[in-house]
Amino acid sequence: MRATIPAGLDRKEAEVYERLDPDRLPKHIAIIMDGNGRWARRRHLPRVAGHRAGVAAVRSTVETAARIHIPALTLYAFSEENWKRRPKTEVSFLMNLLSRYLKQEVPTLNQNNIRLQYIGRQHELPEQVQERMQWAQEATAGNTGMILTLALNYSARSEMVDAFRSMIDAAARNGGVQHLEIDEEAISRHLYTKHLPDPDLVVRTSGEMRLSNFLLWQLAYAEIYVTSTLWPEFRGVHLLEGIAEYQKRERRYGGLSTDHTQPAAAARS
Ligand code: FPP
Repeated sequence: MRATIPAGLDRKEAEVYERLDPDRLPKHIAIIMDGNGRWARRRHLPRVAGHRAGVAAVRSTVETAARIHIPALTLYAFSEENWKRRPKTEVSFLMNLLSRYLKQEVPTLNQNNIRLQYIGRQHELPEQVQERMQWAQEATAGNTGMILTLALNYSARSEMVDAFRSMIDAAARNGGVQHLEIDEEAISRHLYTKHLPDPDLVVRTSGEMRLSNFLLWQLAYAEIYVTSTLWPEFRGVHLLEGIAEYQKRERRYGGLSTDHTQPAAAARS
């Protein structure tokens, strides 16, 4: 039986969607957007031109994900390391770009019933950017469709540090650290992503094979899809291709292959 094509997909997207099993879509997709600088260099443009072009990729990816009813999409927009290691001019360009993106996109987010939220150490961002972020979050708070999470000034190791501090603070408030209970669920409950399921699929553009300090705890069992497409050229159709690849994989969570005639390669793969 042919899958019903969701409204709004273009012809190329519809062609890939037809190959998908709509009952096995990932519940949460995380994306490491990479390659803006290389895209610009290839065109003899300044690096920031790559970031500007990256906004169209964000728009297309977010809309397609919402149209096919992916419950959660998380984009790695700005790492803590980006903040420290990039020239001030590039960082301030990215901050302005983000502010403009938020102002421009809120109507589209609302049309697509998308709820916006953030992970990362927001309080370290410029105050004006924080205000714009809060405005956009509140403006989309009533939406009930896809949750779009932007990772801004985010680092997975800092997230874990913050989670452990939060656990200790909570225990201190509830009768002292002798009441501190540490297990996997307790740690997950104190991460920035406590309201989200762990990603099933992580996509990285531009061919790099690294997690770059992104959702290290939450990606423990995620399928990894790396595409050589540079972020500014990435579109909804590429996301669908990533989902098609994801659906070809067999997820084992450390168990055995369903084909028991083949020896499992490793206890945990
Ligand atoms: C990595 O490319 C990308 C970034 C550090 C910034 C990502 C920002 C955007 C995609 C645009 C704005 C986003 C939003 C949400 C409005 P890179 O510069 O590291 O590329 P390179 O590895 O080729 O140098």
